[in-house]
Amino acid sequence: MPATDTRPRAARVVAIRPCEDASGAASDEGGFILRLRPEGDPAWIASLEPGRFFMVRRQDGASPAIPRPFSLYRVAGDCLEFMVQSLGAGTQALAACREDTPLLLTGPAGSGWPEFSVGSEPWVFLAGGIGSAPFLMALERALPPHAAASPRAPGPWLIYGAASAARLYERRAFADTGAPVLCATDDGSHGFHGNVLELLALEQEAGRIPARVRLAACGPQPMLRAVAALAEKEQLPCWLSLETYMGCGVGICNGCAVPTRPGGALGDWPWAKCCVDGPVFDSTAIVV
Ligand SMILES: Cc1cc2nc3c(=O)[nH]c(=O)nc-3n(C[C@H](O)[C@H](O)[C@H](O)COP(=O)(O)OP(=O)(O)OC[C@H]3O[C@@H](n4cnc5c(N)ncnc54)[C@H](O)[C@@H]3O)c2cc1C
Ligand code: FES
Repeated sequence: MPATDTRPRAARVVAIRPCEDASGAASDEGGFILRLRPEGDPAWIASLEPGRFFMVRRQDGASPAIPRPFSLYRVAGDCLEFMVQSLGAGTQALAACREDTPLLLTGPAGSGWPEFSVGSEPWVFLAGGIGSAPFLMALERALPPHAAASPRAPGPWLIYGAASAARLYERRAFADTGAPVLCATDDGSHGFHGNVLELLALEQEAGRIPARVRLAACGPQPMLRAVAALAEKEQLPCWLSLETYMGCGVGICNGCAVPTRPGGALGDWPWAKCCVDGPVFDSTAIVV
């Protein structure tokens, strides 16, 4: 059961750097890694599960009043890391942080990924753009023990798509987990020229990935919609991590409503709250 203590916590920026591009050079596409240290006893950090998120904003007045949600990218000792794409006021304020900038964190929030128990059907993780952030810890958790020494261990595979090589952020960090990382770019500048589902189909046709897999996906909504449609057609177990707009992040404001499927696992109520019922949903429970 995920930790439920989501009280706001003060934190300080420890380091900030640009994301690496596919080749390992600093990307100039606005992605950055924010490392921060929450104040107080760090005991709770060790039990953080992959797929959970935090609401983050600066505490020096430079951020909008409403914090923004970010998936936990990595735990490094008593620090947390987030991989962020600079877009609007909230993320630009974070991009302008310096060492020691004061922050406010609310979380850990949300449900996180399901248990990656060893089963007959291997996992395929599908990441679109900055939707790769919740997969680093997921890969570490889902890899069978000693997987790096056992190349025939089935999965998990990470199929990582982005607009271009410059946006395949931190590709090397994902590969360093020992999991097979297959890349796709919209412009063909790195890896397969196309999208993640086309690459998955290619790998399955070639027999390198089995037909029966479990899917976990995070990325833009059109991608998630296509993943859910594939899962329904092929009757594959599938979990989606949604990047819905959020206000409070803790179930109060109703700002993150997600339509549910009639008769689905979330019951008859037509709406779920992404921040507390998700952000990870069984794809059969919601309408993407
Ligand atoms: C559970 C969860 C986890 C997330 N994890 C990450 C993460 O690890 N790294 C990361 O960079 N981002 C992540 N996001 C998305 C991130 O929260 C938004 O990009 C951020 O809130 C944008 O804030 P802003 O003030 O910079 O942009 P805004 O000024 O709010 O918006 C700028 C532009 O981005 C668009 N936009 C804003 N939010 C979203 C969204 N959620 N989906 C699609 N378009 C949006 C707006 O329409 C606008 O065009 C996550 C979202 C959720 C719900
Ligand atoms: S973001 Fe406020 S209820 Fe979900």
